[in-house]
Amino acid sequence: MPLNRETERLFAYHEATKHSYASLRAVRHTLDWANMPEPFRHYEGTPVVDLPADPPPPLTPALDILLGAPPPPDPEESTAVFLSRLFFYSCSISATKLVRSTGYRYSLRVNPSSGNLHPTEFHFAARGLAGWKDGLYHYRPSAHMAELRATGNWNERLTRSSAPLALVLTTIAWREAWKYRSRAYRYCLLDAGHAWQSVALAARALGCRAQARGHFADQQVAETLGVSDEWPLLVIEIDHPASPSPGGRAEWFGGRPNRLSEELVEYPLIDAIHASSALDAEDPPVHSAAPVPGRTGPIALPPPVSASRAFGETVRQRRSALDFQGGDRTITFAQLATLLAAGFRPFHADFGEGLVRAYLYVHRVDGLEPGLYRHDAPSGTLELLRPGDQRLWAAALSLGQDLAANSCVTFSLVADLPRAAALHGTRGYRYAHFEAGAIGHRFYLAAEAMGFQSTGIGAFYDDDVHAYLGLRPGEGQVVYHFASGYAVRDDRLQPQE
Ligand SMILES: Cc1cc2nc3c(=O)[nH]c(=O)nc-3n(C[C@H](O)[C@H](O)[C@H](O)COP(=O)(O)O)c2cc1C
Repeated sequence: MPLNRETERLFAYHEATKHSYASLRAVRHTLDWANMPEPFRHYEGTPVVDLPADPPPPLTPALDILLGAPPPPDPEESTAVFLSRLFFYSCSISATKLVRSTGYRYSLRVNPSSGNLHPTEFHFAARGLAGWKDGLYHYRPSAHMAELRATGNWNERLTRSSAPLALVLTTIAWREAWKYRSRAYRYCLLDAGHAWQSVALAARALGCRAQARGHFADQQVAETLGVSDEWPLLVIEIDHPASPSPGGRAEWFGGRPNRLSEELVEYPLIDAIHASSALDAEDPPVHSAAPVPGRTGPIALPPPVSASRAFGETVRQRRSALDFQGGDRTITFAQLATLLAAGFRPFHADFGEGLVRAYLYVHRVDGLEPGLYRHDAPSGTLELLRPGDQRLWAAALSLGQDLAANSCVTFSLVADLPRAAALHGTRGYRYAHFEAGAIGHRFYLAAEAMGFQSTGIGAFYDDDVHAYLGLRPGEGQVVYHFASGYAVRDDRLQPQE
């Protein structure tokens, strides 16, 4: 396939950050623990607004939120409670782990994150929400509070709609680069995809529609937010009942961003791919993504199952498995079909969907023989590519991580990057990863709702995966691995007070 300039740029970063047996052994990287970036951002000196503690959990079954129609909004609910629920069930702290040997304690959140480093920050603009001051806020997950960074009407500058609530997800690439170096930008994008779905599904559980926008002028949004080391990646417009509001007096507090590390190490490849996927205000809107041309595979997926576990409980109990139990425990073919139905349901985003498809390493699924399969979302079918035990391959390709073999099923999510570039230019690199992260997030929640667990896997030998899947150059690039099964017990998890 001939490469144009945009595709070349996008591939240059992707190629340069591939893992291979040789690349992992070529450079030794030891983690500088003393310089580990602080996982919580605060804007010091801003007025803070408490969000009500322990907000009521959304009780609709999580699978209904993933696969069915949303419940109606609660007309009696105050804005403070609504915002508290939105953040509590999408990105707040939900667990603590204790490393007994060192006494080190750290927190985990509702949204997962590569290395638990949490590069994503959540800002929001509110306008006309009853009993809530119009303004620009930053969510502080460490205390479940909102920092008021400015009063007035900021929504119009951040959205193209009249949405009374707009979240802007930014990323702090250094947080991930500290550990993952140049490859970290991929993880920032995947994390943003998870965070987007975490917010969108919580909004849905509260009866609101969430529309994501990836296509905006980067500099203008960054300037509006008054951020420097945070890069805006996604704007999420949330449709919530509101009254027209003139916005009141605009007063800027801003606040001082806390310093995250003593020293910041530069990663020029990350700066370059981020800059080359940035847009100016004058750029035309994106093309809408047509679905991938369908190929009908021979194995029809059964209809999804139902499960009663409530959304609120599901999202707060979600945890990544350290490893899976292996052994004889299986999931059913219908449960696997439910994961796929949830993961590949259309998204509400200006960049569409259909850039990513799943390949499956089926280890222990009742009613489906072990083997390597390709999923075709438009026709809802699977195609068997290689029969037989895939455990060794799944683990070996996932950088030797056992959890990819001990799961019931492991996925390679493969993105059509030339198509992403043809539709969206270099910006398409972001969108392919957002989509993969979003699919992974829905897999996490669907599995948890059905009583088993998952783990996102960002580390894999890229070109070995392509060779094993039989992908010729230009046919697709693996962007994410994901495993689901029955988690082993994690003794570090502490009960939440
Ligand atoms: C994009 C992404 C990549 C990840 N890659 C790996 C991985 O390669 N291996 C692994 O064991 N866990 C991986 N994880 C799981 C994280 O370690 C986990 O989300 C984090 O420790 C927080 O734990 P929690 O998901 O229970 O909140 C990944 C998670 C994400 C979102």
